[in-house]
Amino acid sequence: MVGISVSTASYDGGMATHFYTAASVDGFIATDDHSLEWLFAQDFDQQGPMAYPGFIEGIGALVMGASTYEWLRGNQETWEYAQPTWVFTHRALPAPEDADVRFVKGDPTEVFDDIVASAGGKDVWVVGGGDLAGQFAEAGLLDQLWVQFAPVTLGSGKPLFTRALQLDLIDVARNRDFVCTRYRVRTGS
Ligand SMILES: NC(=O)c1ccc[n+]([C@@H]2O[C@H](COP(=O)([O-])OP(=O)(O)OC[C@H]3O[C@@H](n4cnc5c(N)ncnc54)[C@H](OP(=O)(O)O)[C@@H]3O)[C@@H](O)[C@H]2O)c1
Repeated sequence: MVGISVSTASYDGGMATHFYTAASVDGFIATDDHSLEWLFAQDFDQQGPMAYPGFIEGIGALVMGASTYEWLRGNQETWEYAQPTWVFTHRALPAPEDADVRFVKGDPTEVFDDIVASAGGKDVWVVGGGDLAGQFAEAGLLDQLWVQFAPVTLGSGKPLFTRALQLDLIDVARNRDFVCTRYRVRTGS
C-alpha cells in the first residue's frame, strides 16, 4: 500500500478526528524529559504508507496539550501550521506571531463544535499527548488512532494513551522499520 486516504475517515462520511502519532513499541510518545531524539534517529519514508504529507493534507485544525505546544515552540524555528491550532492549557502561554493559536481549557466537549467549525469541513488532528487524546476519546470525540511504531523501546516516558479503548484495526503497513497502524475507535468504548 502506498499513500493514504483521510477523506473516508468517519463512519458517516463527515469530518473525523484523528490521533496521529509515532510511538515506541512499548507505548510512549516521548521520553520522561520530552525528548524525541529516539524518533528522529529513525528513517521514515515520507512518500510511503501513512506518511505525514498525505495525512496533513486532509487536516483543517490541530489540537494539542501544553507540553506538545511547548515542545514545538522550543524546537521549531517558526510556527509551521497554517491551520487553526487549539492548545489545551491552564496557563497563559505566549502565542507565535501571525499564527492562529487558540488557548482553551477544560472539557473538550465544550469547545469541540468551535474546533470543528474552525477546520472548515476538513478533519481534526489531535497531535498529542496521550492523555488529551484520551479525554477526546472518553467524550466520544475521537474517530481514529494512527500509530507508527518505531523500532525502539523506551522503558518509561510520556504515554501513548491513558484510557482503555476498544479499537478496530482498519489498516497496517510497513514503512522502513516502522509498523504503521490505523484503528477506528469503537463507539461507546
Ligand atoms: N511521538 C510523537 O509523534 C509525538 C506526538 C505528539 C507529542 N509528542 C510529545 O509527547 C509529549 C506529550 O506530553 P504530555 O504527555 O505532557 O501531554 P500534552 O497533552 O502535550 O501536555 C499535557 C498538558 O496539557 C495541559 N492539558 C491537558 N489537558 C487539558 C485540559 N483538558 N484543559 C487544560 N489543560 C490541559 C496540561 O498542562 P498545564 O495545566 O500545565 O497547562 C497538561 O499538563 C510532548 O513532549 C510532545 O512533544 C510526541
